[in-house]
Amino acid sequence: MSLQWSSDLEIGIPVIDSQHQRIVEYINGVELAHQHHSQKELLVVLDELVDYTLSHFEFEESLIEEAGYPFTKAHKKVHALFTRRVQGYQQRAKAGEDVTEELTHTLKTWLVNHIKHDDRDYTGVVKDNMNEATKRVKAKSGSWMSRLFG
Ligand SMILES: [Fe+2]
Ligand SMILES: [Fe+2]
Repeated sequence: MSLQWSSDLEIGIPVIDSQHQRIVEYINGVELAHQHHSQKELLVVLDELVDYTLSHFEFEESLIEEAGYPFTKAHKKVHALFTRRVQGYQQRAKAGEDVTEELTHTLKTWLVNHIKHDDRDYTGVVKDNMNEATKRVKAKSGSWMSRLFG
């Protein structure tokens, strides 16, 4: 069964939500490759999934670090452990083993759980930081405009 994106997977930060949505698409791609009985297709999708997930993790980590999220270190550790786990599956798949069922099960449960708990946990801190940054920019451009046109 493919993983359906739904509003209960949204954390309310659009840039993150769209990245998570893309990861869900890749996970569904893994399953599709399996249905097509194509090991070649599977390896390609797996590569894309790992690449995209890594860049998402990097983006998310810099976002929470910048916002001063107190559990950044722990969050990074969870990302690193998951990455290692997926790379393990990737290696087994490359060696010709059929890991799809185990892999998609792991991917789905991990991602849903991580988004709903770990990622959702940083939302408040990151949103506050984003609002502050927007205010600062507005204040700056405000004073610049008033100097110019005032
Ligand atoms: Fe995360
Ligand atoms: Fe995330």
